[in-house]
Amino acid sequence: MTTENPIKSVGEIASEINAALPRGVMRVPITHRLTWDQILADIPPEYRDATPNAILSAAMVSTGASIMLHGKPGTGKTYQAYALLVADRRKRGVMLVEAGETVYVGLPLDSWCREKADALRSRDQVRIITEAGDIRANRYDHRWLAKVAEYRGTLVVDDIGFTKPTEWVTEAVYHLANERRAWRLRTIWTTNLTPEELRDAFSPAIASRLSGGAVVELTGRDRRVSS
Ligand SMILES: Nc1ncnc2c1ncn2[C@@H]1O[C@H](COP(=O)(O)OP(=O)(O)O)[C@@H](O)[C@H]1O
Ligand SMILES: [Mg+2]
Repeated sequence: MTTENPIKSVGEIASEINAALPRGVMRVPITHRLTWDQILADIPPEYRDATPNAILSAAMVSTGASIMLHGKPGTGKTYQAYALLVADRRKRGVMLVEAGETVYVGLPLDSWCREKADALRSRDQVRIITEAGDIRANRYDHRWLAKVAEYRGTLVVDDIGFTKPTEWVTEAVYHLANERRAWRLRTIWTTNLTPEELRDAFSPAIASRLSGGAVVELTGRDRRVSS
């Protein structure tokens, strides 16, 4: 028979003491630390160790708001999107992992961890949405679309044109492209299509907005297929 987690850490014991103390009584200081697993729990494991590509990083520094990242399936486009998100989280989370935070209240450790990780996530400077998931799931939700359009950080719209775009997808992509461009908000579009194929799949008006900034191609083999 196994007992559930019988060993408590000093922090957990101090936390319990603090929780039991009446208000106004001096409390025990506790250093709480987050782990990278907690901070990156919402990132698919496949992309948690992603590191940014030098060409995309250079394009982020030197170009305007829009970047078209295209390449055949499996060349690492989604991986690059997550690399940006993971880098942003790691930068903002490093103090909470290494130094931690000293607290005096009797907040249970797991609540503290959850709150801190949620707070880090809510300030992400990178947001990834997909055509297959988010855009289709929020069909004709113009309020959702308006909120996405005004996101101030880097918006990645992943895998556009993976199949024939629906009317709503076309409308949403057009709106996002227009708004993000007008407000000079950084947007990375990723697709398996070439710029020419993109023109055929959507329309020349949309394609020119999507490919109007930097165009970065990822080449190489399909990394999903083992060599
Ligand atoms: N630079 C990289 N280093 C290591 N693994 C990578 C790299 N780029 C992609 N991968 C891996 O290759 C697979 C396909 O990458 P993904 O980004 O999903 O491709 P796609 O271009 O189709 O979006 C994933 O398992 C991903 O983790
Ligand atoms: Mg992908």
